Amino acid sequence: MTDHIEITRPETHPGVLVLRFNRPDKKNAITQAMYQKLTAGLLEGEQDDSIRAIVFLGTEGCFSAGNDMADFLGFAMAGAVGEPAAFGLLRALTEVTKPLVSGVDGLAIGIGTTLHMHCDLTVASDRSLFKTPFVDLALVPEAASSLIAPRIMGHQRAFAMLAASEGFSAEQAREAGLIWKVVAPDQVETETLKIASSLASKPPAAMKIARALVKGSADEVRARMQEELVHFVAQLKSAEARAAFEAFMKGRG
Ligand code: COA
Repeated sequence: MTDHIEITRPETHPGVLVLRFNRPDKKNAITQAMYQKLTAGLLEGEQDDSIRAIVFLGTEGCFSAGNDMADFLGFAMAGAVGEPAAFGLLRALTEVTKPLVSGVDGLAIGIGTTLHMHCDLTVASDRSLFKTPFVDLALVPEAASSLIAPRIMGHQRAFAMLAASEGFSAEQAREAGLIWKVVAPDQVETETLKIASSLASKPPAAMKIARALVKGSADEVRARMQEELVHFVAQLKSAEARAAFEAFMKGRG
């Protein structure tokens, strides 16, 4: 299995499982193998009674540059496209009942942004950038972001993020309700783990119910993910998307 996703249980934070993007030379771009390992890690955390909070972290200066562009190009060139592994992760996110906490320092692109719409508390450094260039790549929003973003931030900000591909600073993301807290870069991990530990120490049954009540219907979220998937896969195969992926890959190893 890929070591580009690190799964750890820090002794200093009992009850917390950490899933870390660890492919810094590629800005933590997410490959199919990484999605599979993240999915397995999430489900491991969900099934293990000793785990009471699950944390997503990246590396210094980068949470994730989103889906691996070489993989996107591979899908665009392939005759038939099966379901991208990302959707296994997205489904798992809707099945998790334990608190999800994320910590961002720097770039959070594509699913590196939409992932936080499924997290309960997100901490970001003041140098972070949240951006979803789906339409610029001739793609469409995923992760039920087309449902969740307008709910949390209203139509105009959601449109700016998801359709106009506008970047949001950490402060703008906090104002929009996408994230909880902005801290200095060297405080991101400490603060994220502190929050996760605090959640892990609370009565787990009450936490599970409270979270479910606050989140609302997972069926609705899954239905929107499925609707987005149909368009996403069709667009992946489009000439306009292929041109965008090729433009990115041009001149890169
Ligand atoms: N997929 C694959 N590789 C990626 C990547 C991605 N999504 N994002 C970055 N990389 C790779 C680059 O190809 C480069 O690899 P190389 O050193 O072998 O050439 C390395 O990571 C560093 O990226 P670089 O572009 O040189 O860094 P930067 O700081 O100038 O820019 C980004 C960083 C994230 C702004 C820029 O890389 C980018 O726009 N990436 C694409 C993001 C994207 O559109 N993701 C899909 C969202 S749906």
